[in-house]
Amino acid sequence: MRIPCTARRLGLVLIGATLLPTATAAQARHQVRSPDGRNEVTVGSREGRLYYSVRRDGRPVLLPSGLGFEFRGAAPLRDNLQIVDTARRTVDETWTQPWGEVARVRDHHHELRVEVAEAAPAGRRFTLVVRAFDDGVAFRYELPAQPSLDAFEITEELTEFVMADNARAWWVPANRENRYEFLYSGSPMSMLDTVHTPLTLETTDGLYVVIHEANLVDYAAMNLLGTDDDSVRPMIDSLGARRLRTWLAPWADGVTVRGRTPFVTPWRTIQLADRAADLAPSVLGLNLNPPNALERTDWIEPQKYVGIWWGMHINTMTWASGPKHGATTANTKAYIDFAAANGFGGVLVEGWNVGWDGDWIRNAEQFSFTQPYPDYDLQGLAEYAREQGVRLIAHNETSMGVENYERQLEDAFTLYQSLGINAVKTGYVGDLTRDGHAHHGQYMVRHWRKVIEAAARHGIMVDAHEPIKDTGERRTYPNMMTREGARGQEYNAWGGDGGNPPEYETILFFTRMLAGPMDFTPGVFDIQIASTTGTPRRPEEPRVRTTLAKQLALYVVLYSPLQMAADLPQNYEGQPAFKFIRDVPVDWEDTKVLDGKIGDYVVVARQERGGPDWYVGAVTDEEARELEIPLSFLASGRRYVAEIYADGADADWRDHPHSIAISERAVDATSRLTLTLAAGGGQAIRIRPAP
Ligand code: NOJ
Ligand code: CA
Repeated sequence: MRIPCTARRLGLVLIGATLLPTATAAQARHQVRSPDGRNEVTVGSREGRLYYSVRRDGRPVLLPSGLGFEFRGAAPLRDNLQIVDTARRTVDETWTQPWGEVARVRDHHHELRVEVAEAAPAGRRFTLVVRAFDDGVAFRYELPAQPSLDAFEITEELTEFVMADNARAWWVPANRENRYEFLYSGSPMSMLDTVHTPLTLETTDGLYVVIHEANLVDYAAMNLLGTDDDSVRPMIDSLGARRLRTWLAPWADGVTVRGRTPFVTPWRTIQLADRAADLAPSVLGLNLNPPNALERTDWIEPQKYVGIWWGMHINTMTWASGPKHGATTANTKAYIDFAAANGFGGVLVEGWNVGWDGDWIRNAEQFSFTQPYPDYDLQGLAEYAREQGVRLIAHNETSMGVENYERQLEDAFTLYQSLGINAVKTGYVGDLTRDGHAHHGQYMVRHWRKVIEAAARHGIMVDAHEPIKDTGERRTYPNMMTREGARGQEYNAWGGDGGNPPEYETILFFTRMLAGPMDFTPGVFDIQIASTTGTPRRPEEPRVRTTLAKQLALYVVLYSPLQMAADLPQNYEGQPAFKFIRDVPVDWEDTKVLDGKIGDYVVVARQERGGPDWYVGAVTDEEARELEIPLSFLASGRRYVAEIYADGADADWRDHPHSIAISERAVDATSRLTLTLAAGGGQAIRIRPAP
């Protein structure tokens, strides 16, 4: 029998329709199971190569998948490996989040440590640490200090993820410019080229698998590369098996990770769930990050904010100085007044600082992070805001000129702190640093930590745009609040393809959002963006492609501890629906995903932190639908009032997006609600105890 090269490389032979280890190669194998016994990871070595595999309920999820590294100037750490020892332990502890989708998180797992040694003469050693949780499994490499592996340069990480099934993948590409900002594709994983994580997979027998990483501290972000060997594609497809390999974002010189032992890699995580709805809230990655490192967290204030922002995206204002300059003293005062009158904690101001004139992407080095434009009275406005119980949010766009930013970081944050500014929105428009390092390579990962740590020292919360994906940083640094890292609302203002399609958020929830909070900036009420020209934009033009009720529902569905009301204040005036934005919390005691199907719809219920109110958000794609939801999550025996913001009878995203029906009804834990969602629509509900 001719054994195709990929299979041979993995030490596998084909028998019938399955891949099995060669008998002669089988050596040591060690297993670890989740507390509920359902998830099992096997680590073994065969013909000198180390592999791992994953099963759930005894069925293969990941087939034997390779492990190891390639280095510059040293032999690969991959061959002649032997398992020399193992150790085990169990952890079961529950910790409290300062803020989040749920207040309490249980970390319950079994751990297996596999000590691996390379044969002489090199004799390098490492440990593969595996943890099995009920909601997934994870592993990382630990490289202890040793003379034969001291300073190193990794060129490739050889970790593979060989799926047992040609699962349907929900993905965005990672090998093009524009970071994470793409529409999602859903396709068999055999079609994948290079994709970002979290990568959500739906197997043919209905299992949900999410590949991602956790605790990215001093390493390159991981992308997943589909097979680079076309000759094996047909063979693997016919077996229903697929191989993904780790691809790390590089430094300018092609090295991916520089380090010195002792060293640990980020965790490679594989979340597992029986239903799409069970994927969220996703806490696997949080459990793999170190606990809170800040002495005090009482200054960290999840909040809603407004800002001088949407106007630039719809072209009624500019970042640059001139007649349409958005960040003027008078304009900012009006936003502060609006924020104070409506209970918003923050006012974001973009374009306040010198550097925006001309081509601000090319002129990154010209940004000052301390010097305001002359028509912006920074000191006076900070004080005016404070008097009204509101804070300014400082905008720090770097255009990837990170050296320029780092030089000013300490001065800028010292200034903000002295002015009572307790939040920054950073920006990293661009794909490479000035020196050519990748946007989410190790160089930038290090930059990130510097910013988060400097912000923490100065009592500043961070909202990052064009970020590196979320790998759970918020557990250790709860001032790392939220980030972008996908197409946000702004694409509806200027997206060349007309904006985000109606199904977009129903995919986002099960993909990008599994990594962590997103500053999506919902709440556009002028859905057809008539504010620019007075003429409503057509469905094909860049505009919001949802109903008004769906904009409200997004506050519940898309979690963020800093949540913007994105539209111009005048578009909220006289709008009864605005009450929902004023009411909705940004910090939750509990979260329950009631129902959902990737790309079609999702319904989420969340209980406010430390209070009795519940909020429900439901969104659908381009299909109108009716969903019935039981309210059994309410406290039994208690009477409640549901304030319902539903699509109007004639609502649809194309022609009647503003049609909304607001009503109230008495409910309790035995009630069932029928949610009627228009095409591209949604529903938002506040459920409060009856007086
Ligand atoms: C892209 C960000 O996502 C957006 O919010 C910001 O306004 C612009 N960059 C300018 O910094
Ligand atoms: Ca759909």
